[in-house]
Amino acid sequence: MLTLHLLPLLAAAVSAAPFWDGRIPTAFTPASFDTSVSPYNTGWNKGANVPWADIISFPTVAAGLFDANATTKPFELSINDKSIFTPGSPPGQIGFRRSELMPSSNSGSDETVQGVATLHWSMRADTAHPLNYTHNYELVFLETQDYASHVFTLTSGKPRDGSVRNNASLRLMGTNKNGAATTLHDVDFTAGVWHNYAVQIDFDGSTLAAWYSTDKNPLKSVAAKRSNDATGKGQYHIGMLKLPTGATSDVVNGGYQPSGINEGIVYGGVFIEKGTTVTLS
Ligand SMILES: *[C@@H]1O[C@H](CO)[C@@H](O)[C@H](O)[C@H]1NC(C)=O
Ligand SMILES: *[C@@H]1O[C@H](CO)[C@@H](O)[C@H](O)[C@H]1NC(C)=O
Ligand SMILES: *[C@@H]1O[C@H](CO)[C@@H](O)[C@H](O)[C@H]1NC(C)=O
Repeated sequence: MLTLHLLPLLAAAVSAAPFWDGRIPTAFTPASFDTSVSPYNTGWNKGANVPWADIISFPTVAAGLFDANATTKPFELSINDKSIFTPGSPPGQIGFRRSELMPSSNSGSDETVQGVATLHWSMRADTAHPLNYTHNYELVFLETQDYASHVFTLTSGKPRDGSVRNNASLRLMGTNKNGAATTLHDVDFTAGVWHNYAVQIDFDGSTLAAWYSTDKNPLKSVAAKRSNDATGKGQYHIGMLKLPTGATSDVVNGGYQPSGINEGIVYGGVFIEKGTTVTLS
């Protein structure tokens, strides 16, 4: 059953009503994410027995491109040593540290992954709780319904295999269904500014197109529509997934994760629109 969570206060910046709205009303507390008022799944993906109230905070940063000052606000997701997702029995996914929100309606094959859909989000670094760029991170991604691949991934940090222009960058990658993903856009993860994205997937035509800007600048095309396998549909993840370092054939359960971490990323302006028209400002 598809449940739409259209927030009572829609940000004025978006002219067309979003199909699904993940922007957070100013009245939200961190504990709101643990209740049914949240537009996100309350159970996944986070450390076992850790409430969102302990994971989410509200930083004092200016609202971004698609969050309207005084109606919706940015939020910060964090990871620490407790961020071990345990879908079955303990010890859980000890190779990962993860705190990712998923739209509550997003079953893997619901309306958010049918036809043409565009995920919008903005993100910024928290210099007081930095990433460790010796690790690879997945910070926004669409994982296929069979959990075997990603339709796209926004990554940062040092890739486990190979090298990049700059570890401290944001790289938008296409599908990895049939081998290594192609880098579609690569920008330094500059602190102190918002990085705004829109990624449009045609789930019937298997294409991807992307737009990007900083701060309040209108989005500009950075990846023209290209072939990109989207037949696996899937679930949108907005949040932090930190991969292990070290040699292992099983990154979910193996590798190395240092202890004593406290890392965060600020997100805002998350929504999905349907159809080929993309809201640019
Ligand atoms: C909201 O607007 C007021 C008045 O312009 C400004 O002082 C404040 O910093 C803004 N807050 C955010 C979070 O952008
Ligand atoms: C970053 O990660 C590496 C590899 O896990 C670890 O050796 C190092 O201590 C970490 N650095 C910080 C500042 O936590
Ligand atoms: C990425 O990080 C690794 C490990 O810290 C380092 O050896 C490498 O030089 C870095 N690459 C770039 C391009 O900075």
